[in-house]
Amino acid sequence: MPAQANVLAFRRRLLRWFRRHGRPLPWRATRDPYRVLVAEFMLQQTQVPRVLQYYERFLRQYPSLETLARAAPGTVREAWDGLGYYARARNLRRLAQGIVKHHDGQVPADPDVLVRLPGVGPYTAAAVATFAYEHRVIPVDTNIARVLHRAFGVSRTRTRHLPGRVARLVDGLLPHDGKTTWALNQALMDLGAMVCTARKPRCRECPVRNACMRKGVRGEE
Ligand code: ADE
Repeated sequence: MPAQANVLAFRRRLLRWFRRHGRPLPWRATRDPYRVLVAEFMLQQTQVPRVLQYYERFLRQYPSLETLARAAPGTVREAWDGLGYYARARNLRRLAQGIVKHHDGQVPADPDVLVRLPGVGPYTAAAVATFAYEHRVIPVDTNIARVLHRAFGVSRTRTRHLPGRVARLVDGLLPHDGKTTWALNQALMDLGAMVCTARKPRCRECPVRNACMRKGVRGEE
């Protein structure tokens, strides 16, 4: 595992890059847990550009958890048409009903509670916790797993119970205030999507190349 100074340099540079180059996505302009939840469900199996075509329209049709909970399943399915993987729409509606019924209409903030809701896996639970509630967790999806693997040699297994060394790395990487934690997680997503891509990573343009374990690996520059 890298030295803490390296981890802090990585964080500082990534945050600076994100302030200039981060994507202004609509689900980043809100902390409304319902809006974050809808975005994360859509983004589970669908790319950002496609989600952008559906997100606002879906929210106009179902502006709150309550409206979604009351909706007929067929109309929700129609609003989801084009996004595919319709189990997500079914789960999202059931989840809205469950939250209205059992959580007083408030989306839970605790990832351990979120993960028990329909359609919510460890990734989505962490994403809602950090993007809506600025919780100090990293939502490890494929992109973030790849970034952490390349930069710090973290194994790609997506276990929730991280081995000690990885937990310490994550703890050292995460800031201590909510707003910066939120930004760091969004920044990790953008780095994975825009620079540290699966094929042909753009190492020459990478803001954290000097803090990356793989700097200079042949074929990536
Ligand atoms: N994919 C999943 N969550 C995302 C987010 N908040 N921003 C960009 N891509 C994402």
